[in-house]
Amino acid sequence: MSILEVSNLSIRFGGLLAVDDFNLSLERNELVAVIGPNGAGKTTIFNMLTGIYRPTTGTITLEGENMVGLKPYQFAQRGITRTFQNIRLFSNASVADNVKMAATMHTTDNLAQCLLRTPKMVRNERALDEKVMRLLERLNMADKANLLAKNLPYGDQRRLEIARALMTDPKILLLDEPVAGMITTELEEMAQLVKQIREDFDVSIIMIEHHMNFVMPIADRIKVLDFGKTIAEGTPEVVQKDPKVIEAYLGGAYQNVDA
Ligand SMILES: Nc1ncnc2c1ncn2[C@@H]1O[C@H](COP(=O)(O)OP(=O)(O)O)[C@@H](O)[C@H]1O
Ligand SMILES: [Mg+2]
Repeated sequence: MSILEVSNLSIRFGGLLAVDDFNLSLERNELVAVIGPNGAGKTTIFNMLTGIYRPTTGTITLEGENMVGLKPYQFAQRGITRTFQNIRLFSNASVADNVKMAATMHTTDNLAQCLLRTPKMVRNERALDEKVMRLLERLNMADKANLLAKNLPYGDQRRLEIARALMTDPKILLLDEPVAGMITTELEEMAQLVKQIREDFDVSIIMIEHHMNFVMPIADRIKVLDFGKTIAEGTPEVVQKDPKVIEAYLGGAYQNVDA
C-alpha cells in the first residue's frame, strides 16, 4: 500500500488555477521528483501537502488518514516535513541549535517543567543533544556544530535545512529546490546526500527541482508540471523523451539551465 495518496488536487487563487488536478500515489521509500518551469505550481503543491494552503478540491490521504483541513503542525506531527525554496534558518543561532529547535517545536515539555528542570527534562535535553550530533555527523556537518548558521557557506545552509527537517523523524520528506543557488560542483554532492538520506532514514521523498540533470540519476519517477497541469510522468528515461516535455521544458527558455 502506498504511504501517501493525493487525488484530483486543485487550488484556485482568484482567476488562476495554480494547480489543476494533481495526482500522486507515493510508495514507501520512493523518491519522486516534480519538475517544471517557474510558476508551474510546484511549491503550491508542497503548501497543500503541508497544510499551509487548503486545496480548493481534491484529497490528501496519509496512511489512510484524511489530511485536508488539518493545520501545518498536524501535518508535521503525522510525519510530513519540508524544506523551503528560500532557506529559512535562525541565522544568529548555532548550527546545532538550529537543528535542536526543529524538535523542540513539537516537544511535550510544558513551561513548568522547563522552569523546574525536572530530571525527565534533563534526560530529554541530553537525548536531544545526542540526536542533533548524530544527525550532523550523518550530514558531514559535525565539525560545524558551533558555527552560526549565517556564517555557513550556502551549500551547507541547504544541508542544515535538511538536517532540521530530519530532526522530526519524517515519514515523508519534501525538498523544495534543494540545489537552488548552488554551484555546479555542489550538485553532485547534494544528489548523493538525497540518495543517502532516502536509504539511511527510510523516508519517502518528494523533491521539487528545476535542474533536469540533478533529478534524472536519482529519481524513481518524475512528474512534469506546466501551468499547473501534469503534462508528463514516468521514469526519467520516459519523461526525457516525451515530446511535450521537450517542448514545454527543455526546448524553451530552460534549455541552458543544466549547461
Ligand atoms: N498565495 C497565492 N496567491 C496568489 N497566487 C499564488 C499564491 N501562491 C502561488 N501563487 C501563484 O501560483 C502559481 C504557481 O506558483 P508556485 O507554486 O510558487 O510555482 P513554482 O514553485 O512551480 O515556481 C504562480 O503563478 C504564483 O504566482
Ligand atoms: Mg517554487
